[in-house]
Amino acid sequence: MKVVVVGKGGREHALAQKLKESSLVHDLWVCPGNPGMQVAGLQCKAAESPAEIEAFCLQNQVSLVVVGPEAAILSDLKQRLETQGISCFAPSAKVAELESSKLFCKGILKESQVPTAACHVGYSEKEAMTFLEQHDFQKPIVVKADGLAQGKGVWVCESLEKSQEAVRVLGSQYGYPLLLEECLIGKELSAFALCDGKDFVLLGTACDYKRITPDPFSANTGGMGAYSPCDFITSQDEETIRQIFSKTLSCLQAKNLPYQGFLFAGLMKTNEGLFVLEYNVRMGDPETQALLPRLKTDLAKLIVAAVTHELKNQKCEVKAETSVHVVAVSEGYPQGPLNTGHPVMIESKVHHQLYYAGVSEKQNALVNSGGRVLGVTALASSRKEARELAYKDIQKVSFKGMYVREDIGL
Ligand code: AMP
Ligand code: GLY
Repeated sequence: MKVVVVGKGGREHALAQKLKESSLVHDLWVCPGNPGMQVAGLQCKAAESPAEIEAFCLQNQVSLVVVGPEAAILSDLKQRLETQGISCFAPSAKVAELESSKLFCKGILKESQVPTAACHVGYSEKEAMTFLEQHDFQKPIVVKADGLAQGKGVWVCESLEKSQEAVRVLGSQYGYPLLLEECLIGKELSAFALCDGKDFVLLGTACDYKRITPDPFSANTGGMGAYSPCDFITSQDEETIRQIFSKTLSCLQAKNLPYQGFLFAGLMKTNEGLFVLEYNVRMGDPETQALLPRLKTDLAKLIVAAVTHELKNQKCEVKAETSVHVVAVSEGYPQGPLNTGHPVMIESKVHHQLYYAGVSEKQNALVNSGGRVLGVTALASSRKEARELAYKDIQKVSFKGMYVREDIGL
């Protein structure tokens, strides 16, 4: 089987690496990929638009395309490929609203009776402000934009004044409706399922480090590191996670919106149990880089079973080891790149898995191109050991302005 992975970040590097290990995969390309992936032995093809990817797949008899980023999921890529008889493992653009509209997501959660924060919808500034005036700020309130906002559309507000400002700012930037949500107190985790429209397998859980520094009020990023599995869930919680995915998929199927693809649940474990904060219609970055190296089951086999709607009797086995993934970012991240174009140097052999993201090529050398540049995943029998191994390896990497959060996996 010839396979294409769509995307160019660390998540796609991890997906491609895992798929390449499968005996079912004879040839694999990443479109467009990045020069670091090429250094790591993957083939990349400079095809980025749906039309370019479609043409490349037809020319090369590609039979399966696995889509990483949300932008490609929301494009017409899946429709184009399926019209040509090429399997595309990704949800349809319609059901992808689960991520792109918080209101749609909330409706599905409520209908499927999955625990989620109580929510009031403000369809106008006046309506939102009236609701806030009646709110008891003994408990904070979360103000959310409905659509995609690149991590900037959620404000947790502890006072009436702050929440009023949130409504004004988010309302003018992203428009209405806004969601005004009960604030849940607990610990966050991510859970991942691989779905065929009806059935699913649970790939596992991970915990992401979202802030740029350990300060919980510092800037939000795409993720500075992750570990897997999450260490504060019980087997009962795992059963609850399965029920959450199962109820959601049944509800979507009943609405004639079968969900095929990776499904990522952002969860909060509170004293009252697990609640869904959000769904993403893709794998997480960098959670994928922590999760996939732990997979024992052949990922290509699972995806082939999903695109042929035969996941029902499949199982997903994972290694007992814990993984820790540490990310190195360019100076200025997440605001904007300050120092790019500097050689990415790797002092001596990195022993663990290196995944490339924000790199480009200059005079035959890898240079940083901004954002998350690369990350290292190490596996070990304890998280402490995995953390030590990952940090030992990331110290072998250097580029001007490189920054690494030091508490990943602590
Ligand atoms: P979302 O995009 O909805 O996942 O929100 C982004 C982040 O805001 C989450 O990862 C949480 O840290 C926080 N958040 C969102 N909703 C809530 C909530 N109801 N209670 C507490 N924190 C929340
Ligand atoms: N790391 C969070 C995300 O991929 O959305």
